[in-house]
Amino acid sequence: MPKLALITGASAGLGVDFAKELASFGHNLILVARRLDRLEALGEELGKKHGVAVHCVSCDLSSEEGCQKLLDVLKEKGLSPDILINNAGYGACGSYDQLSSENQMGMISLNVLALCWLTRQLLPDMLRRRQGYILNIASVAAFQPGPGMAVYFATKAFVLSFSEALHEEVLEHGVHVSCLCPGTTRTEFFSVAGAEHVPQAPGTMESLPVVRSGLNGLWANQAVIVPGWHNFITVQLNRLLPRFVVRKAAKMILLKRFLTQGNLS
Ligand SMILES: NC(=O)c1ccc[n+]([C@@H]2O[C@H](COP(=O)([O-])OP(=O)(O)OC[C@H]3O[C@@H](n4cnc5c(N)ncnc54)[C@H](OP(=O)(O)O)[C@@H]3O)[C@@H](O)[C@H]2O)c1
Repeated sequence: MPKLALITGASAGLGVDFAKELASFGHNLILVARRLDRLEALGEELGKKHGVAVHCVSCDLSSEEGCQKLLDVLKEKGLSPDILINNAGYGACGSYDQLSSENQMGMISLNVLALCWLTRQLLPDMLRRRQGYILNIASVAAFQPGPGMAVYFATKAFVLSFSEALHEEVLEHGVHVSCLCPGTTRTEFFSVAGAEHVPQAPGTMESLPVVRSGLNGLWANQAVIVPGWHNFITVQLNRLLPRFVVRKAAKMILLKRFLTQGNLS
C-alpha cells in the first residue's frame, strides 16, 4: 500500500536518496529542508518518474517558527504521515571554544530538539492507527565522545538513546522506531562541517547503500542499524573497550584528521 513519508533534510545527501528510494516503491512524499528550489526540482523529477504526489515545505527546523510552519502546513493540507525520516542534521569541526555558540546551539536545536518535537507531533496519530514507521538518523559518532566535534557527537548519542527507548515503548503498539547509525558517507556533510579538505576516512560509503540499509532495518523493526562492515567493527569496538580507551582513541583519530586542517586550536 502506498504510504505518505515525511523526510527532513531532503535537499541533499542521504535525504535525497531516501526520497528517491521511497518514491520508487510508490510512496507519496513530504520533502522538508530550507532550500526550496532543490526540493521542488527533486519533487518534480520523482513525480514524473514514479507518479507519486510530492509536497515540498521550506522551513528552518532549527527554529521554533520553522517547526511550527511545518506543522501548520501538515494541518492545513490534512497530511498525516505514516513514515517519518528524521534525517536533517549537521556537524561542525573545531574546538568547542572556537566554534560560534550560534552554530553549536543551532545544531542542538536541529539534531535533537526538532527530531524529538516532530516525533512527538506525529507519533500519537501513528499509535492511534496502530501503524507507523520512524527512522531517526544518528551516526557511529553516537557510540563515543568526539573531541573536535564535541557537540555533534553528543547530539547523536542523544538520538541513539532516545530512539532505543522509544523503540521499546511502542514495540507492542504497531509502530516501528529504528535508529540508523551511518559512518562517514559521501554527502555535503563535511563541507557544511567546515572539513571538506579532510582526508577521506577508511570505509567511507556512498549514500544509497546507507539509505537502503536504513529502510530495510526500519521495515524489519530493527532498533539499531549500522550499515557497512567497517562501521559495524567500529561500533563493536566502542561497545567492548573501556570508555577512557574509546575517548583517547577518538581524540587521536579525530585530532589527526582535523588538526592539519586548522579546524582545531
Ligand atoms: N555524511 C556523513 O558522513 C554522515 C555520517 C553519519 C550521520 N550523518 C547524518 O546523516 C544526516 C543527513 O546528513 P547528510 O550527510 O545527508 O548531510 P547533507 O548532505 O549536508 O544534508 C543535510 C540536510 O539537512 C538539511 N538541513 C540542514 N540544516 C537544516 C535546517 N536548519 N532546517 C531544515 N533542514 C536542514 C539540509 O538542507 P538545507 O540546507 O536545504 O536546509 C540537507 O538537506 C544528518 O543527520 C547527519 O548528521 C551523516
